[in-house]
Amino acid sequence: MPKGAITVGRDLALTLVQADDDTAVRLHGDQLPPHTPKKKTSIKPRHQLKEPDTRVYVGDCRDVLPSLPDSKKVDLIFADPPFNWDVPYDEWKDGMPRTEYERFTYDWLDACVNVLSPCGSLWVNIPDDTAAEVVLHLKRRGLTMMNWCIWHFRFGQNRKSSFIMSKVHALYFVMEPLERIWNAEAVMEPSDRATVYFDPRTLAKDEHVGLRVPMDVWYGQYWGRIQGNNKERRALHHNQIPEVYLERVIRACSNEGDLVLDPFLGSGTTCTVARAIGRRSIGVEYSAGNAKSAFERIKEGPIRVGLAKGTSSAIFQPRKASAKTKASFADVGGAAEDALFPEDGSA
Ligand SMILES: C[S@@+](CC[C@H](N)C(=O)[O-])C[C@H]1O[C@@H](n2cnc3c(N)ncnc32)[C@H](O)[C@@H]1O
Repeated sequence: MPKGAITVGRDLALTLVQADDDTAVRLHGDQLPPHTPKKKTSIKPRHQLKEPDTRVYVGDCRDVLPSLPDSKKVDLIFADPPFNWDVPYDEWKDGMPRTEYERFTYDWLDACVNVLSPCGSLWVNIPDDTAAEVVLHLKRRGLTMMNWCIWHFRFGQNRKSSFIMSKVHALYFVMEPLERIWNAEAVMEPSDRATVYFDPRTLAKDEHVGLRVPMDVWYGQYWGRIQGNNKERRALHHNQIPEVYLERVIRACSNEGDLVLDPFLGSGTTCTVARAIGRRSIGVEYSAGNAKSAFERIKEGPIRVGLAKGTSSAIFQPRKASAKTKASFADVGGAAEDALFPEDGSA
């Protein structure tokens, strides 16, 4: 019987954790000493809301996370770090020598791993140039990779020197694959079998008729980069993530009342979406100005949560089918909507 990718990944993680000096994975940034956190016995959020508890801390996440009262209680972390691309973030200097940037990356990843609960998930949004290092570091910390997703967008920066960049990696790691929080039903979408091929086998299923979990490449309406006159865009913020992206991650990997954390809050997308769908949340942001503006957004609420419900991500036009066949598939979108928004509010 084949072992399956998750078991293989779990075994590898355990092997890497137990590796001795000769077999340990070594990365370039290891030559610098780890960051020593400025740990405090009590820290106060700069901004806070109740029901659900929503807290925004100002500071370097490498210092804030070890001082939080929530150690080992965080159910889901979504991290979208600075990419070291000289982006003019308000206060953070986004242009370290590469070795320092790698060290910085391992330090904040460690701080995240240390606050995760045993059923917790860690998602990292990261471009090509650092994705491999993040994957290897988390594997050698003993985490298991569940998915290597891709966020695909169409408006990459034009260039002729190489293929145009049109993706960022969305890396999904967990502490314990068998204990993780995972809600497949909460993120299902109409399948291509139902919306393009009208395959009768999908109607014959006992549950989730015409639906499936999304594939690991994410794109579509509302999934574009937040720039230009995009309605979600917040002034003075850079590299905002679309609300639908956070909605998918949060619904899939947390339950109502669970605790979600974002160590690089930016414009506040994670906490804004988390709060709107009933999760407690913590955001950490280096810039006091960004944190204030993110808090304003959290209070205002998201503008696109729920808009992608029931929509298909198929890229082909529906095949020819009789009107009768098409009619029998007509409610598949409604089924996805029911899965995302059940009447008992349990999603
Ligand atoms: C890529 S942006 C995050 C964007 C966010 N995902 C959104 O949707 O708006 C990175 C943010 O992290 C902040 N930042 C950079 N280094 C930090 C650190 N060490 N600790 C906390 N925040 C930091 C920057 O000021 C910036 O606002």
